[in-house]
Amino acid sequence: MAKQEDVFKKLISHAKEYGFIFPSSEIYDGLSAIYDYGQNGAELKNNIKQYWWKAMVQLNDNIVGIDSAIFMHPTIWKASGHVDAFNDPLIDNKDSKKRFRADVLIEDYCAKLEEKAQKEIEKAAKRFGDAFDKNEFENTNPRVLEYREKQKTILSRMAQSLEKEDLADVKALIEELEIADPDTGSKNWTDVRQFNLMFGTKLGASADTATDLYLRPETAQGIFVNFLNVQKTSRQKLPFGIAQIGKAFRNEIVARQFIFRMREFEQMEMQYFVPPGTELGFYETWKEKRLNWHLALGLGAENYKFHDHEKLAHYANAAADIEFKFPFGFKELEGIHSRTDFDLSAHEKHSGRKLQYFDAERNENYVPYVVETSVGLDRLFLAIFSNSLKDEVLEDGSERTVLSLPPALAPVKAAILPLMKKDGLGEYGEKIFNDLKYDFNMIYEDKDSIGKRYRRQDAIGTPFCITIDHDSLTDNTVTLRDRDTMKQERVAVADLRRIIDEKTNFRNLLSKI
Ligand code: GAP
Repeated sequence: MAKQEDVFKKLISHAKEYGFIFPSSEIYDGLSAIYDYGQNGAELKNNIKQYWWKAMVQLNDNIVGIDSAIFMHPTIWKASGHVDAFNDPLIDNKDSKKRFRADVLIEDYCAKLEEKAQKEIEKAAKRFGDAFDKNEFENTNPRVLEYREKQKTILSRMAQSLEKEDLADVKALIEELEIADPDTGSKNWTDVRQFNLMFGTKLGASADTATDLYLRPETAQGIFVNFLNVQKTSRQKLPFGIAQIGKAFRNEIVARQFIFRMREFEQMEMQYFVPPGTELGFYETWKEKRLNWHLALGLGAENYKFHDHEKLAHYANAAADIEFKFPFGFKELEGIHSRTDFDLSAHEKHSGRKLQYFDAERNENYVPYVVETSVGLDRLFLAIFSNSLKDEVLEDGSERTVLSLPPALAPVKAAILPLMKKDGLGEYGEKIFNDLKYDFNMIYEDKDSIGKRYRRQDAIGTPFCITIDHDSLTDNTVTLRDRDTMKQERVAVADLRRIIDEKTNFRNLLSKI
């Protein structure tokens, strides 16, 4: 098995073993691509939400937050284009009976071509050593050029066929490239057909009068339809933003890679309403702002890159993804879209209500343009979790697994660990716990050896362990162990609140943005 797969398997089992993520409905054999967050996962997720919410709503006096309902009037999804166009091209393998996204099969084929190009580059880098000029090699080596040209031709043909809804050509492309079912090798494919990703449900008591509804596939529409309510009640002037965190649902054809692609997930979206003609400037600003927000987490600038979209969605006049280096390669983490006035205009048309803004400076009414930032909370969780999980070999040759989460996001900020429960050490520990619990999420543990307890806290990413011994009872000092350096120092109990706060406060992240 490839090493990358081993790393990913270990991550999934670590997430389960330490109470971060469980497969949903596990005692009934689970539900595909649905997950539950355990006691530590829920804390980490809440902290990520707080980091986003504070950065958006607290730090910007022209951005306000809302919480709209999951169920919305069904016409909203007609207006937004989701009923007609929120489709993925689906293909089945007749032998394995497995279902795939046709575009993903083709993209995976191209990713393999890129891997081959990268191997050529790596081989040459080894061969030429310091004299290697990567740029020149990429631009002149016939094999690299051929692999890249082939990818370009394939992807542009696929984009054109999807644009024209020519699904027969998408199938022809799969056959010409001899793409096989990755698990079985079979090339026996059905035709490609479109599949709408929205989940349907019903509202109402009796079957004949019930209304068909959809579970929302994005939170953004709840913001658009509340645009005027919020603008009027908050008395905001353009440019201003509305932020929201909430669940979204998509009946993904292929939901793989753990919490990367789920059928029930959470989004953190912000719609920034701006005067027409200014949107592309704000789009560039938000691209930069959002990247800085990610970089402040300290996961390494080399793990992020922008991917500017060539093929734009029906509502956009510019779009880019922030991609992150997940254990399975660079993939989309966040989307930044200049959505024009598409959504508000469509809702005006379908609802018959005006959704306009009176601009006193321009002395005119208009439908605002929108720049959207949209990040998947679960995907961000996976990015942070995978980047933080490390196996370390220590100086004495022993090993430890540590989750070096940004301290402000850690589920537990400090663990109170009396060396033993008896002799009053337990009581003393409980006193410290009861004093600090109003400020921080803490844990108290008095079972197992201190070494084992340290390892358990390392594995859930607790920044500090506070050990209480017999001296503590007389001199009111404790041993404070740092998760990352494993250094231990003697500190006064009276200083604990300040020390923990200095390391774990959200200020540390927010001030870097
Ligand atoms: N309102 C715009 C919108 O929904 P999107 O690119 O479809 O745009 C935005 O989704 C973000 O939501 C993605 O960048 C990703 O982080 C997250 N996301 C989308 N589908 C997801 C899924 N099935 N599972 C987990 N996260 C998902």
